[in-house]
Amino acid sequence: MTGALRGESPHFPTRATPYPGRMSEFTVRAATTQDVRGIQAMLEPFVQRRILLGKDLVVLYEATQQFVVAENSDGELVGCGALHVMWEDLGEIRTLIVVDDWLHRGVGRGIVEHLEENARRLGLARLFCLTFEVEFFTRRGFAPIGEQVVDPDVYSQLIRSPDEGVAEFLDLAHVKPNTLGNTRMLKALR
Ligand SMILES: CC(C)(COP(=O)(O)OP(=O)(O)OC[C@H]1O[C@@H](n2cnc3c(N)ncnc32)[C@H](O)[C@@H]1OP(=O)(O)O)[C@@H](O)C(=O)NCCC(=O)NCCS
Repeated sequence: MTGALRGESPHFPTRATPYPGRMSEFTVRAATTQDVRGIQAMLEPFVQRRILLGKDLVVLYEATQQFVVAENSDGELVGCGALHVMWEDLGEIRTLIVVDDWLHRGVGRGIVEHLEENARRLGLARLFCLTFEVEFFTRRGFAPIGEQVVDPDVYSQLIRSPDEGVAEFLDLAHVKPNTLGNTRMLKALR
């Protein structure tokens, strides 16, 4: 593997993308297990407000490879986001968070761009999200969608997934209370 760092995965390189700015320098990089408790701490307030789905620590550790994090120049986490592969061509952006002090400085955009790059590398063509942040995702090229996103054959396979996020995507009744008012959005990757 040419130019790879020790322990680097070919799909999720440890390369970090710096976003320089006068007052708001930050870096987006692949998450490690050391970040997981910090990710849960960022997630918790949004779970309390029923904006994002809660996740047990074990579920977050199992999803470490899905996550990227944004950190400030002191190495403190200021945001995170995850890419969940759902099907051959379809993935979901989930658990996208930017801490209050860092809102509107391009961190969310940096995280989504990094996740989109990971998605392309994995061969995905479409990205889904379920969100209250419709304006943010519209600016990122997402558009609201109706019910019919996958053909009936794929639907019958996806319905076998134990993942709560996939159930949300399929709009299944048992997760309805968590998703009231959310908008389902999709973006075609180029
Ligand atoms: C959605 C969310 C992640 C966006 O994070 P963010 O870091 O504020 O987003 P950004 O700064 O990248 O973009 C928001 C807008 O801020 C403004 N902005 C960006 N950089 C800026 C800067 N340096 N100065 C002033 N404004 C700026 C822009 O209007 C930008 O939109 P644009 O880049 O498309 O023009 C954040 O609001 C959040 O954590 N929401 C709660 C959790 C949630 O619902 N997540 C989605 C679930 S999937």
